[in-house]
Amino acid sequence: MTAGQRDRWDSSLYDDRHSFVWRAGAGLVELLSPKTGERILDLGCGTGHLTATIAAAGAEVTGLDSSISMIAQARQNFPGLKFSLADARNFRFDEPFDAVFSNAALHWIHDAGAVVKCVVAALRPGGRFVLEMGVQGNVGRIRHAIEAALTEAGRSSKCPWFYPSAGEYASLLESHGFEVRMAQTFDRWTKLEHPERGLREWFEMFAGTYFEGVPAAERENMLRTIEERLHPELYRDGFWWADYRRLRVESVLPFHDEHWSDSRAF
Ligand SMILES: C[S@@+](CC[C@H](N)C(=O)[O-])C[C@H]1O[C@@H](n2cnc3c(N)ncnc32)[C@H](O)[C@@H]1O
Repeated sequence: MTAGQRDRWDSSLYDDRHSFVWRAGAGLVELLSPKTGERILDLGCGTGHLTATIAAAGAEVTGLDSSISMIAQARQNFPGLKFSLADARNFRFDEPFDAVFSNAALHWIHDAGAVVKCVVAALRPGGRFVLEMGVQGNVGRIRHAIEAALTEAGRSSKCPWFYPSAGEYASLLESHGFEVRMAQTFDRWTKLEHPERGLREWFEMFAGTYFEGVPAAERENMLRTIEERLHPELYRDGFWWADYRRLRVESVLPFHDEHWSDSRAF
């Protein structure tokens, strides 16, 4: 984040009510399969919970995030780990990493090409890039309801997220020299933590930019309308659910243009 930009992340609200984000990322750490002594970068590390999981496997991990609030909370949560305040579109480290890992961060960054370029520069040959992000159609019902309410009120509705398809993201990686070993799209309906206010808290945490400039009373009316419309589909068994769809990718930077294998064939 550059000086003067507002920090849109509330790290306390994130850790208090949205821990499902990093809890759901545990399987991604398994896919990364960190080894003792490996140098790993956690891109968009937030409050550092998955950074700590990676460190617990014996890797030498650095968390990177552009939010002052998230990095401050990460340092407070895990004082023994390294965290760096930097932008994923524009960073560099002197020592190469064995792997770059990223959970639930890349869909916040529209300039995906700039991110992938930095990741390539940060990896050693043979290094891997393992990521999960929102995929095309993620929170489709929620987005549709928000955008319809804003349009009906004569307001613009600019989507804050970048949700590519698996094919689009895999092509982007290939165009920067990666070999895509696995790209998987899947639905993951996610239970929101507060029984009544779950959807409100989700809006507050993740969708605030849609409502910037909307006066408080008008915003309240809009949110009530959106909740009423979504209730039949997204409220089940006493809780709100978000209609998440994810993209998981495992990719490797080959040693050579010829794509020689990193592993022994015999
Ligand atoms: C939903 S949080 C996920 C955090 C963490 N990876 C986890 O699993 O809990 C998204 C994170 O992406 C970070 N982020 C968004 N844009 C970024 C950018 N341009 N550079 C670095 N981090 C960014 C945010 O600051 C936020 O901490």
